[in-house]
Amino acid sequence: MLEVKDLQVIYPNGNEALKSISLQASAGEIVAIIGRSGAGKSTLLRCINGLQPASSGQVLLDGENITAMGGGQLRKARRYIGFIWQEYNLVERLPVITNVLTGRLGYNTGIGSFVGYFSREHRELALKSLERVNMLHRATFRADRLSGGEKQRVSIARAIAQEPKILLADEPVASLDPELSQQVMADLARVAREVGVLTLINIHHVELAKEYCDRIIGIAQGVVVYDGAPDGLTSAILDRIYRFDKHTHPLVETPAQNMGWQGVVSNQAVGGI
Ligand SMILES: Nc1ncnc2c1ncn2[C@@H]1O[C@H](COP(=O)(O)OP(=O)(O)OP(=O)(O)O)[C@@H](O)[C@H]1O
Ligand SMILES: [Mg+2]
Repeated sequence: MLEVKDLQVIYPNGNEALKSISLQASAGEIVAIIGRSGAGKSTLLRCINGLQPASSGQVLLDGENITAMGGGQLRKARRYIGFIWQEYNLVERLPVITNVLTGRLGYNTGIGSFVGYFSREHRELALKSLERVNMLHRATFRADRLSGGEKQRVSIARAIAQEPKILLADEPVASLDPELSQQVMADLARVAREVGVLTLINIHHVELAKEYCDRIIGIAQGVVVYDGAPDGLTSAILDRIYRFDKHTHPLVETPAQNMGWQGVVSNQAVGGI
């Protein structure tokens, strides 16, 4: 289970990317995080996998505080955090199967970790992961021979091969054409459901988020302004998420604030906006 508590990130240049983010999510949920450019979506995911230190607040994964970890402890925790990048982050000159096996690196101990030897168990798991995304037939291909959609499927397989507690995807389909975006989102959601892993997906494409995710979290200027079911995303709420401007639409003017919800609009609050 993931718990984010009052998370704040102020970058060294003084930019407050996250003001106070709180959310909880459980195994099996597929959650889309939406918001305009600069809202803080990537910063949030980077905090969850410990790449970005928090200025204050906590990220708890199964009760362990990621924000307080460093060095070896953080490396060990990252073993359980799968990450999918917009630009795939594959090692282009290596075969697909070797790329997927890198998802097992955190589990490879002893001499094997130095010589790049993976046990039969690791290899079987990597092949199984490729099969899940229908890429088994490309196992021996060099990664640079693959199309964008295929590369993203391999990166999903690599993340799944980690046997993660949580899967984080930052704009996983932003580099793909509309048809491939549909297919890759469908694959990502299907595989996440099959293995029952909590999945957070930063995505700009609202229709895809609504189609494939169980829950939507809308972020504007470093705070959560919507957290609820996809069908609660009314045009008024989308306006709050995407057209939010602190000069013309201060958050404090919302009914949600007046009722002490700190600007978070839940499904139940939709009628008031
Ligand atoms: N390393 C950094 N140093 C200073 N400011 C940063 C840094 N990284 C991000 N920011 C700023 O923090 C804010 C949030 O950035 P973030 O990348 O999290 O937004 P985002 O919602 O992912 O945007 P996008 O949709 O464009 O990817 C932005 O104002 C951005 O300019
Ligand atoms: Mg981003």
